Amino acid sequence: MTKLKIGNINDVVNGEMIQSTINNKNYLIAKIDDEIYVTSDMCTHEDAELTMGCLSGKKVKCPLHGSYFDLITGEAQNEPAEEPITVYEIKIKNGQIFIDD
Ligand code: FES
Repeated sequence: MTKLKIGNINDVVNGEMIQSTINNKNYLIAKIDDEIYVTSDMCTHEDAELTMGCLSGKKVKCPLHGSYFDLITGEAQNEPAEEPITVYEIKIKNGQIFIDD
């Protein structure tokens, strides 16, 4: 695993999410109640970027078929997706967001 800097906490507005692309890999960074959450940015059902969907509390809704994923556990909340998305543990240093990946 490598420490990756994937963004700055000020890149994301509270209540919104952005996509960060590092080494050709897309990550979802969400800020909810001033907490940062980082997950993979690909639905586990088909190829759909979750950052094209919408946030609902601490869940993200897939734009294609509407599965919700919990941003804390990664679990799919409803079909058709069944597999969880990857959730990354984050470290924040001087406003920069780091993950191990
Ligand atoms: S592609 Fe996300 S639920 Fe189908």
